[in-house]
Amino acid sequence: MAAPDLERRSKEEMRLLTLGGHVGFDSLPDQLVSKSISQGFSFNILCVGETGIGKSTLMNTLFNTIFETEESGHYETCVRLRPRTYDLQESNVHLKLTIVDAVGFGDQINKDERPIVDYIDTQFENYLQEELKIQRSLFDYHDTRIHVCLYFITPTGHSLKSLDLVTMKKLDSKVNIIPIIAKADTISKSELHKFKNKIMSELDKNGVQIYQFPTDDEAVAEINAVMNAHLPFAVVGSADEVKVGNKLVRARQYPWGIVQVENESHCDFVKLREMLIRVNMEDLREQTHSRHYELYRRHKLEEMGFQDTAAESKPISLQETYETRRKEFLCELQKKEEEMRQMFVNKVKETELELKEKEKELHERFETLKRTHQEEKRKVEEKRQQLEEEKLAFNRRKAAVEAMQAQAFQATSQQPLRRDKDKKKTSGWSSIYSVTIS
Ligand code: GTP
Ligand code: MG
Repeated sequence: MAAPDLERRSKEEMRLLTLGGHVGFDSLPDQLVSKSISQGFSFNILCVGETGIGKSTLMNTLFNTIFETEESGHYETCVRLRPRTYDLQESNVHLKLTIVDAVGFGDQINKDERPIVDYIDTQFENYLQEELKIQRSLFDYHDTRIHVCLYFITPTGHSLKSLDLVTMKKLDSKVNIIPIIAKADTISKSELHKFKNKIMSELDKNGVQIYQFPTDDEAVAEINAVMNAHLPFAVVGSADEVKVGNKLVRARQYPWGIVQVENESHCDFVKLREMLIRVNMEDLREQTHSRHYELYRRHKLEEMGFQDTAAESKPISLQETYETRRKEFLCELQKKEEEMRQMFVNKVKETELELKEKEKELHERFETLKRTHQEEKRKVEEKRQQLEEEKLAFNRRKAAVEAMQAQAFQATSQQPLRRDKDKKKTSGWSSIYSVTIS
């Protein structure tokens, strides 16, 4: 049966019954409230604005307390996000408030909005990882996803800086942006009106989506619609309390007069506090989860290959997608393994061939060396034989000479008187001797 048919049938089958008496499920909203109260709430604010624009002062004024803070220098080497978490309590409601400062933003060359985008994504990723765990503990998970980004605009009275437009454009799909004109006491009433219009038209022209207070809930539709028309809020912050009449009020005192933070004819601080904290805090949390986180989650799961529908818009379950992806992955793995194996075999073959070449080369070199050696050995042998023969000849001649010398000596010693005759003979021997020697 087709899905719309099923839906129609189930609607037809649902019958409205009247109860005979009080059952008690009308206490469900109260049960929800008491459960939420015991669980506590978390709310995370990201403050983006140039150094010294009044971020910390405004936070202190908004929550009527003094948060620990330290001034940032103008010489930060890069933009860094500094989160600080506080436990606040009002009546019996506990609020875990995290204020994240984008330190170094807009200062000289540190104009990069990337660290801010990365920070927001990291908080989404942490939540997604917790959701995907087998054993989840979302009940007591400290949700650090940014619920609102207060974007502090410098009160120049001219127009938005391109940095503001670029940053807000990058952030608008990731976080609820509420733009505010900071230090609004430094801009005149008529200039402020024009400045607000200019900002809104510039945001509109550049397609920047800022947070719109919801108008679908009847209880707050009217006030939210009015407040949407007042955006961006022009705010003044102050840590001082000044006596006006006989009342102490939060204000900034100047030589020419006093700017009262909570006076609606002086600035929009009260409007901001009403909208941000008293009326729309839950909607900001809800929008963060259902719109911005949902978008991040969808992209992330799609990136991982998960889909709700397969080809021809056929619904596909997570299990099926997982199985398909697993098979694809295994196939890919097998292919990679085969490629690696083939690569290894080729490499071994190449190395073997190289080794054989080298062996052949070495063998040839050995043969050449062997031949050279044998040749030299033969030559040396010939030389040796020649020398041997020469030695023998020399020895023979030497022996002959010695024999002749001995005979001559013998003859000389036996006939001493026949000198003349012998002289002739001796000279004859000498001549023989000299002939033999030569
Ligand atoms: P870093 O955290 O160092 O970037 O500064 P910050 O943006 O937190 O500014 P901070 O609140 O420390 O204020 C800086 C100076 O601006 C202080 O002297 C404040 O008194 C002053 N200031 C804050 N808010 C306002 C305002 O609404 N109007 C005027 N005129 N001055 C303000
Ligand atoms: Mg500060």
